[in-house]
Amino acid sequence: MLFRSSLALVLGAFCLTMAFGAQAAPPKKKPKVSFAEDVLPLLQFRCGACHTGEGDGLKISGLDLSSYEGLMKGTKHGAIVVPGDVLTSNLMVLLDGKADKSIQMPHGQKKLSTCDRDLIRTWIHEGAQNN
Ligand code: HEC
Repeated sequence: MLFRSSLALVLGAFCLTMAFGAQAAPPKKKPKVSFAEDVLPLLQFRCGACHTGEGDGLKISGLDLSSYEGLMKGTKHGAIVVPGDVLTSNLMVLLDGKADKSIQMPHGQKKLSTCDRDLIRTWIHEGAQNN
């Protein structure tokens, strides 16, 4: 009994904290994903060998993944990231393996983990900022 009521108390306190916390917080949410700290290191590690400097990926597709500007510029054919719109961002289509297998990225290598892909997805969803 004692256990039960103290649990209720703790839960109650928790809910109150959440409610007040939500009220006190400014309405604009801080982005969860940072380009510089989360997205760029991942791209450099998994795509950099082919999509920077003298790499084939950069030479053939024109996609330079060494910087925010390069990623947002996209390929010779245009942008691959549409800020705020995950579904029409070709980058996600390729990474999720929803395009033809021959152009799934990274080329001929293991697909990015669900966790890594969700990170990029969230970043695009949050507006693909240079943050
Ligand atoms: C082993 C080399 C290699 C790696 C690693 C690699 N790419 Fe590529 N990528 C290429 C080549 C070569 C092309 C151009 C030929 C093609 O489109 O298949 C290309 C093309 C692309 C294109 C354009 C596709 C199109 O149809 O226009 C995108 C977008 C892309 N890569 C994204 C990435 C991303 C994101 C990563 C990392 C997750 C990555 N690539 C990793 C070699 C690579």
